Amino acid sequence: MLSYIYNGLSWIYLLLVPNMQEVEAGIKAKQIPDTTESLFSTLDIVLISILVGGIGWYFFNKRRSEKENAAKRTYAIQPTSMGLQASSDNSFVKKLQSSGRSLVVFYGSQTGTGEEFAGRLAKEGARYRMKGMVADPEECDMGELVNLKSIPNSLAVFCLATYGEGDPTDNAMEFYEWLQNGDADLTGLNYAVFGLGNKTYEHYNEVAIYVDKRLEELGATRVFEIGLGDDDANIEDDFITWKDRFWPVVCEHFGIESTGEEVSMRQYRLEEFEEDEPPERIFTGEMARLHSLRTQRPPYDAKNPFISKILVNRELHKHGDRSCMHIEFDIEGSKMRYEAGDHLAVYPINNTELVEKLGKLTDKNLDQVFSLINTDEDSSKKHPFPCPCSYRTALTHYLDITGNPRTHVLKELAEYCSDPTDKEKLKLMSSTSAEGKALYHKWINDDNRNIVHLLEDIPSCKPALDHLCELLPRLQPRYYSISSSPKLHPTSVHITAVLVEYETPTGRTNKGVATTWLASKLPNQSSEPPTVPIFIRKSQFRLPSKTQTPVLMIGPGTGLAPFRGFIQERNFAKEDGKTVGNTILYFGCRKKDEDYIYQEELEEYERNGLLKLHLAFSRDQPQKIYVSHLLEQNADELWNVISENNGNLYICGDAKSMAADVRNIIVRVIQQKGNMTEQQAVAYMKKMETQKRLSTDVWS
Ligand SMILES: Cc1cc2nc3c(=O)[nH]c(=O)nc-3n(C[C@H](O)[C@H](O)[C@H](O)COP(=O)(O)OP(=O)(O)OC[C@H]3O[C@@H](n4cnc5c(N)ncnc54)[C@H](O)[C@@H]3O)c2cc1C
Ligand SMILES: NC(=O)c1ccc[n+]([C@@H]2O[C@H](COP(=O)([O-])OP(=O)(O)OC[C@H]3O[C@@H](n4cnc5c(N)ncnc54)[C@H](OP(=O)(O)O)[C@@H]3O)[C@@H](O)[C@H]2O)c1
Ligand SMILES: Cc1cc2nc3c(=O)[nH]c(=O)nc-3n(C[C@H](O)[C@H](O)[C@H](O)COP(=O)(O)O)c2cc1C
Repeated sequence: MLSYIYNGLSWIYLLLVPNMQEVEAGIKAKQIPDTTESLFSTLDIVLISILVGGIGWYFFNKRRSEKENAAKRTYAIQPTSMGLQASSDNSFVKKLQSSGRSLVVFYGSQTGTGEEFAGRLAKEGARYRMKGMVADPEECDMGELVNLKSIPNSLAVFCLATYGEGDPTDNAMEFYEWLQNGDADLTGLNYAVFGLGNKTYEHYNEVAIYVDKRLEELGATRVFEIGLGDDDANIEDDFITWKDRFWPVVCEHFGIESTGEEVSMRQYRLEEFEEDEPPERIFTGEMARLHSLRTQRPPYDAKNPFISKILVNRELHKHGDRSCMHIEFDIEGSKMRYEAGDHLAVYPINNTELVEKLGKLTDKNLDQVFSLINTDEDSSKKHPFPCPCSYRTALTHYLDITGNPRTHVLKELAEYCSDPTDKEKLKLMSSTSAEGKALYHKWINDDNRNIVHLLEDIPSCKPALDHLCELLPRLQPRYYSISSSPKLHPTSVHITAVLVEYETPTGRTNKGVATTWLASKLPNQSSEPPTVPIFIRKSQFRLPSKTQTPVLMIGPGTGLAPFRGFIQERNFAKEDGKTVGNTILYFGCRKKDEDYIYQEELEEYERNGLLKLHLAFSRDQPQKIYVSHLLEQNADELWNVISENNGNLYICGDAKSMAADVRNIIVRVIQQKGNMTEQQAVAYMKKMETQKRLSTDVWS
């Protein structure tokens, strides 16, 4: 088909070009045969132009709709650790061959964990005489997997995360579809898969499980069993346990032996700049383009966030020791559009006090400008974050300094300890022994120590700050379910965010990076409004297209956020004279007088007849009352919405326990009211999901 269109276009081009040349240069027209001239009158040219224009329009629209569909397919998290420089050559086999490597580790990663694991595996290959390379499937011609066998003893490993409803990450989407739709013969391809997921989500590790199975179906050889990492428990532990069993099996499969050497090569080379010779381009927190934070140019996205003014930042809780913020962001003039149900991404910065502490603990001047440059020249990722920049910028904008450091970081830190006991302790925690794992779990995870706490509590450890900058993961944007409707608020986006702050067992107060920063962004009349870099992320969490369709929304706590937008939208339609179906909300909080957010608004919607409210105040009486209890009590209403009225169900908020409990209740009600077995009820619910009549927007 394409070649047919292409031939047609070439034909039109051949016919048109002489005529155009004729118009532009009369002299050349003399060389055009009379027959051609007589073929084209002015009318011909007009008709042909319309035809060409039409074909062009068709392709433009097709591409645009493909792009839109791709955007729709994606979910809340946009990758931010994107390669700063795209590679022009997408042949990974050529790259492997030219650099004498036999191991390629592909990653499907949104927030960087899968990419980090891939990097660690590739690096370890050297220890087993298998020089490795990390590769982003989006930048590779994955069809080349059929040729990988041309490299002796070659192995492809896939570290793949799952998101949404069992979806791959953006960068693995094309590869995933290629596997689903294609029938390549992968005989001779050696592979292994490690999945990154979270058991609190319905579709646990589905992408990795599918890829592992599909590669085998296509004839590839599974060298080692799939590993499944659970981010709800300890994904680091899952990974190191899997890879410790993986390597001996790989050695046996290929008949190779470990060199026994510990691999602690640096991936990046340091370049520091003298104060009197500063580089021309110094990044100051931009995600990609230099000065993009000052000279703003749409379109705005993860690489080019919009600097939005905060118009409103008010407290929603009436009493109690917690805080929930209602924040309104100005998007006037940004050309950004949103729909109720989309997510707002915020790029936070780290706490200044923690940044300064890190400078002191590592005895480094934070104003020093530096670059980290990848020693692997074949890698498309030249720097771990935008470089050159100062250490202060790196620690403030680019690096996660508040998460629990992973074991590979501890292993590298051990080398910087002057006290042998400290060194042993860090080594033990980074080992895979039961004792080491237990200590890591207690000292890092349970005690919630971040890198600053670790260096404070192990004072003999004095790492080079540039090495730390190489080891720490990237600071990620935080996502918030948008709590407004563009019908009512076309030039502002609202969010509803709970302040994260908690005491740790070591007596420290840990503060959420983004929410603590947002809490300080208070607009006041007398000065310029505070600003925050943001972008909007499309989601699939959508109201039904017909306003008559009934909707039942379940959103305790901040789970109410997207439903505020939905309710605004339904009310707008009602005031516009449209028929609006039942709009039912199940909301829960701890105490009516404390954390019943948006109480006045909700009760006003109830009074004006739009909303039916079901409220569960969990701590206003001795026994807990949750939204799930109310749902079960109102089984008839739930069944009525689901079955008799073909309505839509929505769940938003805590993925860990609430969403699972609510799903169980829904299955039970379908089973009872629809006279089905449990299996049939589950299948019924899955069908509702595929029909987009049951949607979830959950996080943990
Ligand atoms: C799709 C999506 C939509 C979201 N929508 C909303 C929303 O509408 N409203 C909202 O408030 N949040 C929402 N979130 C969560 C939000 O993105 C952030 O995770 C949250 O605001 C915390 O960010 P932070 O930077 O302040 O905290 P961080 O610095 O990221 O700290 C949070 C981490 O601290 C730890 N932690 C938190 N509390 C405790 C505790 N009590 N004990 C021990 N450890 C703890 C946990 O490891 C947690 O992951 C959403 C998340 C996603 C993925
Ligand atoms: N990653 C983060 O940093 C972060 C930040 C904010 C929120 N969250 C997640 O989002 C969730 C919501 O947070 P929030 O502060 O908005 O809400 P919340 O105030 O913690 O909870 C809202 C209501 O839901 C109730 N609830 C607890 N378990 C439930 C269950 N299984 N089924 C139904 N209701 C249940 C709570 O009751 P009780 O409390 O009385 O049991 C409370 O009444 C949190 O649980 C947390 O997992 C994560
Ligand atoms: C919004 C969101 C949705 C997720 N959906 C799923 C899911 O459906 N199934 C699953 O197993 N894990 C799910 N996860 C967990 C991630 O896959 C897990 O945290 C993983 O480690 C992320 O890897 P990455 O940092 O490489 O992107 C989800 C996480 C988030 C934040």
